[in-house]
Amino acid sequence: MPEPQPVAIKLRVNGNEYSASVEPRLLLVELLRDEFDLTGTHVGCDTTYCGACTVLFNGVTVKSCTMFAVQADGAEITTVEGLTTDGHLHPLQQAFINDHGLQCGYCTPGMLISGAYLLSRNPRPSDKDIRKGIAGNTCRCTGYQNIFKAVADAAAATRASQHGD
Ligand code: FES
Ligand code: FES
Repeated sequence: MPEPQPVAIKLRVNGNEYSASVEPRLLLVELLRDEFDLTGTHVGCDTTYCGACTVLFNGVTVKSCTMFAVQADGAEITTVEGLTTDGHLHPLQQAFINDHGLQCGYCTPGMLISGAYLLSRNPRPSDKDIRKGIAGNTCRCTGYQNIFKAVADAAAATRASQHGD
């Protein structure tokens, strides 16, 4: 059987242009981590369960262990590294620090991406909204309470900075 041929792809990650020649079976998370050195995106399970590999794909959260790199041709990706702008932490990153929203930190990149996605669509999330927003992300350490608090506090901080409320 002939070997699968590499496929040339181009994509934007965190606002930067990337190109790569990838095997058809290469996973998106492998491309990000191993080819582009964006190791903030973690692999916790490789089976679509834990959410540690969550990134934004054309503005929507996906589990990057569940997509092939070739599917990202022409896509716009945001990883946890892309949440920081001009050296300033995303409000959610700051809230995770303030509220002790992490312990080992393994789940944190995925939590931050899912949380940021939620806040981008819902600036005033209820407790239930927050729980649903990170339902695809598993944490084995924190018991979740400080993560929920961090998302709520980030939402409040963002509203205060934008509207003074
Ligand atoms: S590594 Fe992708 S969901 Fe766990
Ligand atoms: S902080 Fe350890 S898995 Fe969430």
